[in-house]
Amino acid sequence: MIAAVGHERVGVKFSPNIPFNDVEETDADALYPYILEWLNTRNIAYVHVADSTGKVHAKLRAVYHGIYFAGAGFSKESGEELVTQGGADAIVFGTKLLANPDLPERFRHNASLMNRINRRSTCRVSTVIPITRRWWRPKPLRESWALGEVTS
Ligand SMILES: Cc1cc2nc3c(=O)[nH]c(=O)nc-3n(C[C@H](O)[C@H](O)[C@H](O)COP(=O)(O)O)c2cc1C
Repeated sequence: MIAAVGHERVGVKFSPNIPFNDVEETDADALYPYILEWLNTRNIAYVHVADSTGKVHAKLRAVYHGIYFAGAGFSKESGEELVTQGGADAIVFGTKLLANPDLPERFRHNASLMNRINRRSTCRVSTVIPITRRWWRPKPLRESWALGEVTS
């Protein structure tokens, strides 16, 4: 990929220890630091690590010297805390952004968040398009706040 598009256009995402589809990674503790050490020599745009355990970021951030995005399960507050402490350069939001296309504005104004996405339906190709069409054209910000259901 670097040869094809240039190192500055390549980003890599890892999901250590993810149990999705019965994945088992008994060597994750050794594997990901090893990969990130190697990526230090490649000067890519960013590394994005999804860590559902909450234990991986500190270890991998310490190993990787480039731009580090942390993800999975963050709230505005926990994300701000990690970035402020230097534990990541930025936080990746998935489910909250799907349910709140105006998420940056909501965070900026400490507004409530719309209801959670339906995980069963969003993973089916046939329902992804209608759902995102509906959510990708949100009501005007203040009106949608009023309709919002406080989730966290
Ligand atoms: C509907 C949906 C589909 C996703 N598909 C993938 C995927 O194919 N590969 C992947 O690495 N992560 C996938 N993710 C995870 C996101 O890239 C991201 O890591 C995650 O949503 C961040 O955590 P959060 O949702 O708690 O903010 C998906 C997330 C959602 C909500």
